[in-house]
Amino acid sequence: MISRRHCLGLTLSAGASLALDPQLLLAAQQAVGERIIPSTGERIPVIGLGSSATFAQTAKSEDLDNLKGVMKTLIDNGGRLFDTAPGYGASEEVAGRIARELGIHKRLFWATKVNVAGRSGAADPGAARAQIEQSFNYFGVDKIDLIQVHNMGDVATQLPILKELKAKGRIKYIGLTTTSTNQYRLIEQAIRNEPIDFVGLDYAIDNRDVEDKLLPLAMERKIAVLAYLPFGRTSLFKRVADRPLPDWASEFDAKTWAQFFIKYVISHPAVTVVTPSTSQVKNMLDNLGGGIGRLPDSTMRKRMTDLIDALPPVAVRMG
Ligand SMILES: NC(=O)c1ccc[n+]([C@@H]2O[C@H](COP(=O)([O-])OP(=O)(O)OC[C@H]3O[C@@H](n4cnc5c(N)ncnc54)[C@H](OP(=O)(O)O)[C@@H]3O)[C@@H](O)[C@H]2O)c1
Repeated sequence: MISRRHCLGLTLSAGASLALDPQLLLAAQQAVGERIIPSTGERIPVIGLGSSATFAQTAKSEDLDNLKGVMKTLIDNGGRLFDTAPGYGASEEVAGRIARELGIHKRLFWATKVNVAGRSGAADPGAARAQIEQSFNYFGVDKIDLIQVHNMGDVATQLPILKELKAKGRIKYIGLTTTSTNQYRLIEQAIRNEPIDFVGLDYAIDNRDVEDKLLPLAMERKIAVLAYLPFGRTSLFKRVADRPLPDWASEFDAKTWAQFFIKYVISHPAVTVVTPSTSQVKNMLDNLGGGIGRLPDSTMRKRMTDLIDALPPVAVRMG
């Protein structure tokens, strides 16, 4: 019997036409790995889908077939978590519409955010509540799995609203996100002091600052971690350029550079789900493949970072 891992490898190396057939993957046996959300024990597939970047750009267009294919591929191949935000242009609305059309809106794990800070310059709880209600409308669900305060925006106003909605049973999990090192101290305090279930942090093989304090602390406090920017937008692909994947990547079942980068991120024990963004079915399949098979151990992780650190860095705006 062909394994899902084997199947993904064949599919991706055989080119786009084969790669576009999720049925091939459905027939396979080996599933995307799962992690446990510490605050409840709920199991969740370790590979998710982000929706800023190219997903958000494509959501602005008239032709949504690609995004439909990407979301269907996520669900058909054992993924569940979709990370979005009101700040990602049309992503929330379009993903909600596609998911309802596909009938998968109740199967997805919706991870969205709230952030009205900065618009009025002052605390605006009414606007925050309205933004959250809009997310419910877009997704067509009675309960949202996860809402996080985006980029630590007006935590004093927005986190209490999330706590209240969680207490009322309208949100299952709450959290905070940042991808800016200048907010790491703030989020560290929140991890120590607030009753949150999740944090969302930037983490990639060439962006490892969170390994020092935040990831160990999240584990200690039993807080789940969403790993953002696993490819540094596209900087990691540019950094490896046309170099071949090292032979030893097969020792942890990475068949592409994307899987190499993903496996680095998810082999950290604090990471619950990684959420690479894509607008292409073939890349969604590639990324799901990163959640299948063996993971690098600490010796291998060192070998991986040594390889990447030796390459010249590529500047990419992270915003
Ligand atoms: N503060 C926050 O809360 C925060 C901040 C940043 C990000 N995030 C979340 O994290 C997600 C990930 O970050 P991101 O989307 O900015 O960056 P990313 O996931 O590091 O990179 C996305 C880019 O990689 C490309 N890509 C995806 N899969 C690929 C593959 N297998 N092979 C080659 N290229 C591939 C995509 O293009 P294609 O469309 O061509 O595949 C896109 O250009 C976001 O979408 C968002 O949900 C949250």
